[in-house]
Amino acid sequence: MRVAVIGGTGLVGRHTVDALRAKGHEPVVVSRRTGVDVTTGAGLDAALEGVAAVIDVVSFESAERAAAEQFFAAETENLLIAEQRAGVGHHVLLSIVGVDRVEGNAHYAGKRVQEALVTDGAIPWTIVAATEFFDFAAQVVGWTRTDAGAVVPPLLVQPVAVADVADLLAEVAVRKPVGRTIEIAGPETHDLVDMARRTLTARGDEVRLIASWRDSPLGVEMAGDVRLPGDDARIAPTTFETWLATQSKRG
Ligand SMILES: NC(=O)c1ccc[n+]([C@@H]2O[C@H](COP(=O)([O-])OP(=O)(O)OC[C@H]3O[C@@H](n4cnc5c(N)ncnc54)[C@H](OP(=O)(O)O)[C@@H]3O)[C@@H](O)[C@H]2O)c1
Repeated sequence: MRVAVIGGTGLVGRHTVDALRAKGHEPVVVSRRTGVDVTTGAGLDAALEGVAAVIDVVSFESAERAAAEQFFAAETENLLIAEQRAGVGHHVLLSIVGVDRVEGNAHYAGKRVQEALVTDGAIPWTIVAATEFFDFAAQVVGWTRTDAGAVVPPLLVQPVAVADVADLLAEVAVRKPVGRTIEIAGPETHDLVDMARRTLTARGDEVRLIASWRDSPLGVEMAGDVRLPGDDARIAPTTFETWLATQSKRG
């Protein structure tokens, strides 16, 4: 089956393209690097020719809620219109577990707009909502890192391997749309501070970590069980330890 991966050059996108190929399908890589801008729609009609399903794994990082909402609204509207013109039968969106439970996060606000447009749209859909990726703790360190250290909030998460999420996206896209959200999480819960410390150690990177909700871009509204998946979530096989071992090999 011919499947377009929107954001196919990104972290999740590259794994999704590989997963589709491994299952014998024909991925079409769509991003600005392949000549398509989903915020304007330029190049989309040509990219979607002969495509049966679309997987949207585009991303946009901004601390500004309005900017995130505008980006995800524009790209989703452009995609859904182009999919209608091209006769695409299935729109698969990658979202994040629990975006409805955290009001103050700009990225989650953008994802809520994306989900609403997809679920109200004319193209049959499936949403895959993933928990945080294993690299998330290191990403959070990067947001606040100075010579004095980095602030990491003591967030309870059930992180997942990007490759496991990509496998599920590729599996779902070639099946019939289900019109509901399928959650995916890793096999264990972890504390984000511990994950950050172990990731930095594996990479041979010495940073003082300050475990705090204060001065963190992640608000205390994310404390407790808020970030955990529901009981029906698909539990992916890869453990954090397995992923950590790949980090130490970076040299
Ligand atoms: N990080 C997590 O823990 C986590 C957890 C669950 C779900 N997610 C979701 O995973 C998704 C993908 O994240 P990622 O880490 O793979 O992102 P990423 O590595 O930053 O990749 C983003 C992709 O979007 C493309 N893109 C950006 N703007 C575009 C535009 N205007 N037109 C066309 N393509 C555009 C980029 O390619 P070009 O630069 O070539 O355009 C790239 O291929 C996000 O939606 C995020 O919400 C993340």
